[in-house]
Amino acid sequence: VEQTYIMIKPDGVQRGLVGEIISRFEKKGFLLKGLKLFQCSKDLAQEHYKDLKDKPFFPKLTDYITSGPVVCMAWEGDGAVASARKLIGATNPLQAEPGTIRGDLAVQTGRNVVHGSDSPDNGKREIALWFKEGELCQWESVQTPWLTDTDGSHCSS
Ligand code: GTP
Ligand code: MG
Repeated sequence: VEQTYIMIKPDGVQRGLVGEIISRFEKKGFLLKGLKLFQCSKDLAQEHYKDLKDKPFFPKLTDYITSGPVVCMAWEGDGAVASARKLIGATNPLQAEPGTIRGDLAVQTGRNVVHGSDSPDNGKREIALWFKEGELCQWESVQTPWLTDTDGSHCSS
């Protein structure tokens, strides 16, 4: 099953949005596999955003991500990566649709409250980067049967 790495950035934690943001993924019906409050090093922030290392905003970005604790989460579900990106909304919160996390809760690209993996491969990479072995839980939610069609599949059309 697909997994995505979702992270509430330091501004989301400081602004008291942790419960609100977690709630959106819970209510959607994804399965929470890992969760922790964590103060990350500059090295880890640089590794996480390594694809952006040549961007002019890279030093500001890694300062931002290390400026306070973040909430690290691993969420699982069919299509979780793309769906979480939709729930999060556009990178620039002023362009993010109302109803999305960034559209509802943020105004600046450099303070956009939440991260979501941009591909299933990056989901795996980022979960391995932010969580140690043993920090993820294997469990079954009682909700799963009520989120699942009787033949076990989900409609794509
Ligand atoms: P993430 O989920 O955090 O990866 O955001 P994203 O996938 O929507 O955007 P992207 O990966 O391109 O950029 C990562 C993060 O860098 C963004 O979420 C912003 O916080 C920051 N960022 C991107 N572009 C800019 C920019 O032009 N200026 C500033 N200050 N920050 C930027
Ligand atoms: Mg990104």
